[in-house]
Amino acid sequence: MEKELNYIELIRTRHSIRDYEQHTLTDADRAQIMGAVASAVPLDSGIHLDWKIADAAPMGGSGLLYAGCGTSNEELVEYGYRGEQSVLGLTAEGWGTCWYGMAHMPGSPCSIVFGKPGTPGVRSAMLGALSRGHTRKSLEQLVTGGIPADSSPLVRTVMESARLAPSAINRQSWNFEVVSDTQIVIKGDTGRFPDLGICLANAMVTARQLAGAATVTRLDTGTYSISW
Ligand SMILES: Cc1cc2nc3c(=O)[nH]c(=O)nc-3n(C[C@H](O)[C@H](O)[C@H](O)COP(=O)(O)O)c2cc1C
Repeated sequence: MEKELNYIELIRTRHSIRDYEQHTLTDADRAQIMGAVASAVPLDSGIHLDWKIADAAPMGGSGLLYAGCGTSNEELVEYGYRGEQSVLGLTAEGWGTCWYGMAHMPGSPCSIVFGKPGTPGVRSAMLGALSRGHTRKSLEQLVTGGIPADSSPLVRTVMESARLAPSAINRQSWNFEVVSDTQIVIKGDTGRFPDLGICLANAMVTARQLAGAATVTRLDTGTYSISW
């Protein structure tokens, strides 16, 4: 069941949190987190992801959200697509999050650390600087063929949300094409990370917020259409 959140604002303000306050999860916390997970809409409902919470988390987080997932391109895209919707849901509830690929839970490509945001320390400074996490490629660099001057502002807003998606080592290995005022195409390097699905999730929730509904369709491996 999708929730009515201000996703555009959440996407613009979210950043990876790498220092957390000490906080032991309560039953209410777990219910809230699994509620955010349940709010995520699937891209391919045939791919089953059974999200779980592990109590031990790196970086002092309160927990780790993960699911068993295959390694095909489609499965990794699905993992990122649903995982990022959960990240945004958790962000809306005041949780800090960080996608985490350095260590894997068994059967899972990567996980999502979450907890109560703490004062940024050396770890935040070092890892943030290494990944240059506060920087992004410009839309001009990412949009193949450029943005038509008479494009609807909605097209630019959807692509702006896609641009701000988090990715492993901030690779941002995707590009966009404007098809019409109600459709863009996102292409990405699927690799071994769920980055492309994360990018698609940001575009989808933004289009849905602005237009009321959005459809994501797989056109080819690593190529997806978002229309509204
Ligand atoms: C799939 C994935 C794996 C990631 N793995 C790590 C990680 O292992 N350690 C870490 O500190 N950050 C990790 N990150 C966070 C990225 O470095 C971060 O999202 C990127 O630099 C952009 O910064 P931002 O999230 O603050 O906007 C990961 C992100 C993604 C999407």
